[in-house]
Formats: sequence, C-alpha cells, structure tokens
Amino acid sequence: MAHSVQAFHTFSLPSQCSQLIEITELEQLQQQSFSRPFCILGEGSNTVFLTDYHGQVIKMATKGITATVREHDYLLEVAAGENWHQLVIYTLEQDMPGLENLALIPGTVGAAPVQNIGAYGVELAKYIDYVEYFDITSKELVRLSNAECQFGYRDSIFKHQLKSHAVITLVGLCLPKQWQPELSYGPLQQLKDITAQNIFAQVIKTRNSKLPNPYVLANAGSFFKNPIISNQQLQSLLQAYPQLPHYVYDNEHHKVAAGWLIEQANLKGYRIAGIAVHQQQALVLVNHGNSVGADLIAMIQHIQQQVWQCYHIRLQHEVRLMSRDGECHIDLEETP
Ligand code: FAD
Ligand code: EPU
Repeated sequence: MAHSVQAFHTFSLPSQCSQLIEITELEQLQQQSFSRPFCILGEGSNTVFLTDYHGQVIKMATKGITATVREHDYLLEVAAGENWHQLVIYTLEQDMPGLENLALIPGTVGAAPVQNIGAYGVELAKYIDYVEYFDITSKELVRLSNAECQFGYRDSIFKHQLKSHAVITLVGLCLPKQWQPELSYGPLQQLKDITAQNIFAQVIKTRNSKLPNPYVLANAGSFFKNPIISNQQLQSLLQAYPQLPHYVYDNEHHKVAAGWLIEQANLKGYRIAGIAVHQQQALVLVNHGNSVGADLIAMIQHIQQQVWQCYHIRLQHEVRLMSRDGECHIDLEETP
C-alpha cells in the first residue's frame, strides 16, 4: 500500500513509496523477500526522494547498546536503529570519550559507516572495530573488520560492492581508555579547558551557527562532497583565488571547500521554487516547501554548471538521490 515518505527524509519533498516496512527485530529481515526494488532507510538525513519510489522502503529501527570494558578500551556494540547523537551523549555520560567531535550529526548508527561520517577533524572509521550486516542473498549475518569496510572520505564498501546487498545490523566501536582530544579544526583550537564535554559543547555551538536544524528547515546537510583535485590544478586555481580553502588529501591531491566555491560563484541565497542555497553555509541546500524533485534537480545542475564554468571542477552530490526505480546520480549536464 502506498505510503508517504515525506516525513521520513529530512529534505522532505512530497513523495510516496509502494510499501514501508519498519524493522524492529532482526528476525524480520529473514522473512523479507527483497524481490522488489527496495531501499534501506535510517532517519533519511542523507537521502532525498525526488519523486514517488516504486519499491519498498525498509526502515531500520532496531535498538540496543552493549558496552564492554576491556583492558585498553571500551567496546560498544550498537544496533543499527539507534540514533547517532544519542549514542554520543550516552558515551560521554558513561565517561567513555572519543565521539565528541561527531556530536549532532543526524541519523542512525547503521547509516554512519555507509558514508563514514566525519566532522571537525574526526571520521567514524577511526573508532570502528567491526560492522555486522545481514547479507540479503545468503540471509546470514556477516562481520567485516575495519580494513574490510574500505573506508574513505564519505565512502565505504557499502556504497560499492555491498550496495543493495547488505543491511547493516550492528556497529562495533572501540574507544581507547587513553583519550586523545582532536583539536585541529579552527574553533576547537581556541578551547581553554580541554575536556570531551567542552569539545562536545563547542562542536554543537559551531554546528548550530551554520547548519540548519533539519526538523525546522528541511535540508540534508552538505549537499555536495568537497572535491578532490590534483596538486597541479590547485596551484593554478590558487593563482586566481589565493583564498581558496584547501587541505592535503594525499601526496598528489588536495581537497577544496565546495562551500567556498559555491559562495564565490555568487550562489548564496540562489533559489529555485522553495529550494535555496543556505545563507549561512553554501554547501547546504534547504527546502522552504512548495518544491518538487524537478526543482531540486534544476538546482543541482545549475550549481554544477556554475562551479564548472568558474573553476573547472566537477561537483558530485554527497546526498543519496532516489528516483522512481532506485538510486540515481546527477552529474554535470546529465539528468536521471
Ligand atoms: P539515511 O539517509 O536514512 O541513509 C543514508 C544511506 O545509507 C542510504 O543510502 C541508505 O540506503 C543507507 N543505509 C541507511 N541505513 C542503513 C543500514 N542499516 N544498512 C545499510 N545501508 C543503510 N554527515 C557527515 O558525515 N558529517 C556531518 O557533519 C553531517 N552533518 C549533517 C548535518 C545535517 C543538518 C544533516 C541533515 C545531515 C548531515 N550529515 C552529515 C549527513 C547524515 O547525517 C549522515 O549521512 C547520516 O549518517 C545519515 O544517517 P541516516 O540514518 O539519516 O541515513
Ligand atoms: N566556506 C565558505 N562559504 C560557505 C561555506 C564554507 O567560504 O558558504 C568555507 C569556510 O569558511 C571554511 C571552508 O569553506 O574555510 C570549510 O567550511 P566548513 O568548515 O563549514 O566545512 P565544510 O567543508 O563545508 C565539511 C563537511 C561537513 C562537516 C564539516 C565540519 C563535507 C561534504 N562536509 O563541511 O559535513 O560537518 O566539514 O567538519 O565534507 C555533511 O556531510 O552533511 C556535513 C555537514
């Protein structure tokens, strides 16, 4: 039976799916046929339904946190449907620091390894011990080590070989007892009293100053990835744009700030129907309402074209886009 998914994704476009199934017990996964188009959903904060989706939406809502004290670390085993930010709060309350830089990232624990969530100098991969998933073909639970997850910047095996094959059920996190604060990000460098609680509070303050609360103003966080360009391209861009924020990625590449590129292309506040480039953070697109998927597609294409014209950089959307039959990608001058 058709079911609205507008309230199930934070960008909140009007859309329906053919069927919505909520998984609260792992046994339910055994009973799923996975024969029709399906998509796994957590809290929908990195997913946009552009139009009606002709498939099943399987929403992960399993709960449970187990903490084990080991010699040198704490092992946390967390069910996929737990809320990420609540987990961060729980660990700090239990005096198990480590996750404070990742405070206030919306969404579920199960989705967190998919794009290897990251913020303020820390990526989740740093703390992953293992990820357990339900293999939809063998119907068995499989455990992957950190290395097997192939984590990268906003990337993991779950976006590639295991895409549409794996339902993440449990995440094993390892928090060393010997806590080492991560203070490399600008506003954190000014902290005087360095405690996990103070880092947590500063991260929340910084985030609230730039990122709109998705439950107040619909959005999906950073819409595009920060592009990775060659050192050579960076050097020629710096001639024209000496202020361009850039960070070392590897020996041959740098990452550059997409928000800066978009702002300097004069797109802050640019609007198509109810969709706008956010005033406080140009990497975020917001939905003021009265918008449909076609408006968002036009906005994505416009931004990609402008950024290409100004800097010869291709922007890739970070957000997962769902069209009628499944996931789609919008690349420069292409439509789904
Ligand atoms: P969903 O949108 O429900 O799913 C995301 C993807 O993961 C989909 O492709 C889905 O199929 C897949 N998936 C979800 N659950 C499972 C599962 N159990 N098994 C297999 N696949 C699954 N991200 C960052 O990295 N850093 C940030 O700082 C950050 N800030 C944000 C700020 C705002 C205001 C918003 C709205 C988003 C932000 N994000 C950020 C993006 C988002 O919070 C993360 O990607 C988060 O992990 C998504 O969780 P979710 O449960 O909402 O995922
Ligand atoms: N900037 C501008 N104008 C803008 C936005 C940014 O000039 O409109 C500049 C900033 O001044 C800064 C640089 O660009 O010099 C980087 O900006 P910021 O620190 O705000 O971070 P970001 O690169 O835009 C990334 C992540 C965020 C994460 C923050 C903090 C990606 C795609 N985004 O954003 O993640 O919270 O760093 O670490 O990597 C998300 O994935 O949804 C997300 C919000």
